[in-house]
Order: sequence, then structure tokens, then C-alpha cells
Amino acid sequence: MIVEKIKELRKELNTHRQHSRTIGFVPTMGYLHQGHLSLIEKAKEQNDIVVISIFVNPTQFAPNEDFEAYPRDLKRDVELAYKAGADIIFHPKIEEIYPQQSSTFVEVEGDITKVLCGASRPTHFKGVTTVVNILFNIVQPEKAYFGQKDAQQVAVLQKMVRDLHLNIKLIICPIVREKDGLAMSSRNTYLSKEERKQALIINQALREAKEIYEKGEKKVTVIKEYITNKINTMPLAVIDYVDIYEYPSLKKTEILNSQSIIAVAVKFSTTRLIDNIIVDVVN
Ligand code: PAJ
Repeated sequence: MIVEKIKELRKELNTHRQHSRTIGFVPTMGYLHQGHLSLIEKAKEQNDIVVISIFVNPTQFAPNEDFEAYPRDLKRDVELAYKAGADIIFHPKIEEIYPQQSSTFVEVEGDITKVLCGASRPTHFKGVTTVVNILFNIVQPEKAYFGQKDAQQVAVLQKMVRDLHLNIKLIICPIVREKDGLAMSSRNTYLSKEERKQALIINQALREAKEIYEKGEKKVTVIKEYITNKINTMPLAVIDYVDIYEYPSLKKTEILNSQSIIAVAVKFSTTRLIDNIIVDVVN
């Protein structure tokens, strides 16, 4: 079923709770692809009832970003979501989530929201943590599913759940890629044919960086420079960041000596793509 109203969703979910059914939740902004569907499939394996939300959240977009242009196709999303195992699709209007008088935000402070995407999108994570909190309060699932594609989002949400003592288990699922390695993203649809071709460099550079690391290179500056040079061989690619941090703390590091993330954001004209790879350090 498709539900637009919080009241209706709560009523439906209460019935399921009365029957002791477990609820798994997959928040999305829609324009679903196999990355989203992998979360729904995982949720279906682990829960009796799967709720997905489709809500392009205005508070996580800055005024100069693509909120208006963000791709939307509800009809297609509904079909795909059902096929993957969703039971309830929550598709609220903006006013349902943010009534006019609403002025409360949830913000994770500190470097964890300031580095990487937080540097170029300073208000982004405040919007994400606020909406995820609102959605958690509405759905009240036992488990919620997120993709490692947005690795910083995962780290920030894990911190939020810990700090606020939320009684929800976050299940983190691996990055789903196109056959040629490009990380799936709703924004890939913006890429021209040539940009799409050149965007392959992102994953290639990350994989090679991991190999270099595995062969013994532990210096962050050297690995970052390798990736930067590699991506810059593509004339249409404009690097936003190439960076390495301990993961999931996102603490700064000069030498790789604990589990770390190599993360990049690259722009192709106005399309900003992100990708990452985790390196597990065995001391
Ligand atoms: P959205 O970009 O639609 O992504 C919804 C979920 O799908 C996120 O957990 C994201 O990490 C996951 N996902 C996207 N691409 C993926 C891929 N290639 N492989 C695996 N998982 C992938 O992330 C958001 O929406 C929003 O910030 C949201 C959490 C819904 C809050 O508005």
C-alpha cells in the first residue's frame, strides 16, 4: 500500500505491532535503482513488514543544489519497491513532514559532519539527521537499512543513534555497482554519454589505491596524490575532494594504521558523484 499521511501509516503499523510483526525501514529519496532495492531485499529477509519512504528531503539540499531537479518517478518506484519486497510505501508531502510551524533540527556536531561532503555541503548532514529522526519517530522500526555508498551518512547516523540512545539497529549494506564499476546513484541519470564514460575513473582510481596500499604504501599523502592524478587524466572530471580518514570515526590520519576510508567526490559539470572504499588495516 501507498500511504501519504503519518496518521494512516501509524494506524497501519500499530496493527502489525499488535500481531508482533517486526518492522524494517528503508528511507530513500526515490528514483530507485538496484542500490536501493538491495536494501529492501535485505530488509525483507530480516523483517515481517518492510516500510520504505520516498521523500526528497528539502532540508538536506542547499539553495544552489538540485532539490527541484532531483529525478522523480513514483510510478516506476512503486513497482520496483513492491517487486523487491516492500509492503508499505510512505510518500509524504513536504508539509506532512515539515508543518509550517516546525523549527526543530537534529544536528551531530564535530568534525564528523564537517569533513568530506560536510565541507562542500555544510548544511547537508543537519538535514539528513533531522529527517531520519522524524522518519524514525513516525515508523519506529526495529531495524533501518542504509548503504555504504554514503559512508559518511552512515558514520553520522550511527553516531546520532548512539548519542540519542535510539532503540533502532542500523543495518549497513554494501555498495551496489554497475557492471563496469560505477557506483549506482540516482544522479547518474544526469551524466552525458561522455561523462558517464569518464566517470569510470572514480572506481578505477579507488581500486588501484587499495592495491597500492595492500602492496605496502601506508602514507595518506602518497595515496591521495595517486588518486588525484589518476582522476585528473579525465578532462571532464573536476575533483571536489580526495581524502582518507579513519572509519567510522572520520578522524584525521597521516599513516594508515586502523580501518580507514578512502573517499572521493568528483563533479562532471553540475553532477556531483561520490564513491569510497574501506581499507581494513590488520596490525
Ligand atoms: P538516497 O540517496 O535515495 O539513498 C537511499 C539509501 O540507498 C541510502 O542509505 C543510500 O546509501 C543507499 N544507496 C544509494 N545508492 C546505493 C548503492 N549504489 N549501493 C548501496 N546503497 C545505496 O541517502 C538518502 O537517499 C537520503 O540522505 C536519506 C537517508 C533518505 C535521507 O533523506
